Amino acid sequence: MSATRAATFHPELITALRSARRVAVLTGAGVSAESGVPTFRDAQTGLWENFKPEDLATPEAFRRNPKLVWEWYEWRRQKVRSVQPNAGHRALAGMAKRYAEFALITQNVDGLHQRAGSAGVIELHGNITRTRCFNENIVVPEWTHTGEVPPLCPQCKGHLRPDVVWFGEDLPEAAINEAKRVSSACDLFLSLGTSSVVYPAAMLPEIALRTGATVVEINPDETPFTPNATFSLRAPSGVVLPDLLRAAGIV
Ligand code: APR
Repeated sequence: MSATRAATFHPELITALRSARRVAVLTGAGVSAESGVPTFRDAQTGLWENFKPEDLATPEAFRRNPKLVWEWYEWRRQKVRSVQPNAGHRALAGMAKRYAEFALITQNVDGLHQRAGSAGVIELHGNITRTRCFNENIVVPEWTHTGEVPPLCPQCKGHLRPDVVWFGEDLPEAAINEAKRVSSACDLFLSLGTSSVVYPAAMLPEIALRTGATVVEINPDETPFTPNATFSLRAPSGVVLPDLLRAAGIV
């Protein structure tokens, strides 16, 4: 079976996977789509269909109506808790063991990479399962449940918020700097399930290309980056990534 599949991939792609020493991977919403995580826009159903994400995922929206924004994220957290990592997440966790240097950068906030066994994930947009203080900007792991919505910071009594990057907010500096560093130092870069339109994440495969890396895009649809990719595989990542790694003998 795998011998048949190996023939379906370009031999130079297989060689690139086998000879790579430093690998960087960027993932987006498409990688979680096969787990059933609704994308930002798909999430606007049922109770929430009359709200635009831009009206819920901004600091202004939180100041205006913190209860509404907290409840929307609570609903999204429940969705994320109810799904499982898919074959794409698991393939990436397996891939990390094969390379001396392997960096996984994600735009996803759902924590599914970690649940699949990936360690040291570079989270560009935060993580919905973490909470931080809106005033002090520090992660708050625990608080007393007093029935207040949103709950209050145990230290300053200000509102707690999800530890995600909202529209109009800067990305965590350490995460984006590390993402740029690994993208410029890798010899193989995979861009998986991202529309490649949201910056600064979209510049990472460009950085990798400029420094001479082989850049592989996996996405069922064409993106603005597709014409620049060294290899573009037009298929769902949960299907083609495990196949590709098996064909190359990586996992
Ligand atoms: N496998 C691979 N790619 C897929 C799959 C799949 N099974 N299903 C869908 N896709 C692709 C889509 O074709 C699309 O190009 O995943 C991409 C998802 O694009 P976006 O929804 O724009 O997600 P992303 O690129 O992660 O967006 C970046 O924008 O909405 C904000 O903050 C949010 O982190 C998010 C950021």
